Amino acid sequence: MSENYASQDSTVLQVDQLTLEFGGLRALDHLSFQVQSQEILALIGPNGAGKTTCFQCITGFLPPKLGEIHLHPPHHQTQRLNGLKPYQIAQLGVARTFQSIRLYEKQSVLENVMMGRQIRTKTSTLGVLLRDRRTSVAEQQIREDSFQMLQRMELEQYAQATADSLPYAAQRRLEIARALATDPFLLLLDEPAAGMNRQETEELDELLVELQKEFQLTILLIEHDMRLVMKISDRIIVLDHGRKIAEGPPQEIRQHPEVIRAYLGEQAIS
Ligand SMILES: Nc1ncnc2c1ncn2[C@@H]1O[C@H](COP(=O)(O)OP(=O)(O)O)[C@@H](O)[C@H]1O
Ligand SMILES: [Mg+2]
Repeated sequence: MSENYASQDSTVLQVDQLTLEFGGLRALDHLSFQVQSQEILALIGPNGAGKTTCFQCITGFLPPKLGEIHLHPPHHQTQRLNGLKPYQIAQLGVARTFQSIRLYEKQSVLENVMMGRQIRTKTSTLGVLLRDRRTSVAEQQIREDSFQMLQRMELEQYAQATADSLPYAAQRRLEIARALATDPFLLLLDEPAAGMNRQETEELDELLVELQKEFQLTILLIEHDMRLVMKISDRIIVLDHGRKIAEGPPQEIRQHPEVIRAYLGEQAIS
């Protein structure tokens, strides 16, 4: 849990009665929860529970049928996210990664991060076209900031390589680097450990804890790797059929009868 006492118990994201259907299938069913400043909150549940759909709604990729989503950015007034476009939500300080890697595969690693960085700067499209002096200074800044982010994520050796040439775990780190380059206060990670081996997953959990502290992030994490979830989460929300069936700290969730029945089953999570 964060050591920043003043920020504890302050809600940064509030989801109320979120409901979304695909055809006749209710993927989210009156889902409500809150995310507190600088916590790591995990969203778990069986395949098809609605976890990714929840991220799609929060980040503006899918409009909910019902429900309200409010963001409370630090030092800014509350924003209603319903109806905003993904880039507008990103500009409010919400960044995400995707369940299946989405990089600009043929662009360089550095360029991938620069594209994340650009969203937070004032360079206008016209300025880029005219290439005036102010724009080139701004571009230089973006390049430097982006390279620094690569260094932080231990990816600088790959800066000029194309994104698709990276080893798998490094591509996953690059996605996080690109998300962080937008300077978010809220980071949504959709199965960041998917496809990683045990050692890579352990490196990732250490990295996430470090990044949370370093950038004072609030992290909303979808993850199937229960070892990782139980180790780094402050709280866990369990979804099943689009509904919240449990919510609490890891030690409570691992003993929750309905969670064990719906999800954990025989899985060893100690
Ligand atoms: N674009 C879509 N079109 C139709 N059905 C979808 C779509 N996306 C997700 N679903 C369905 O909605 C339910 C929730 O999916 P999803 O949010 O991806 O679950 P999770 O991420 O928890 O595995 C599933 O039954 C899935 O098949
Ligand atoms: Mg998913």
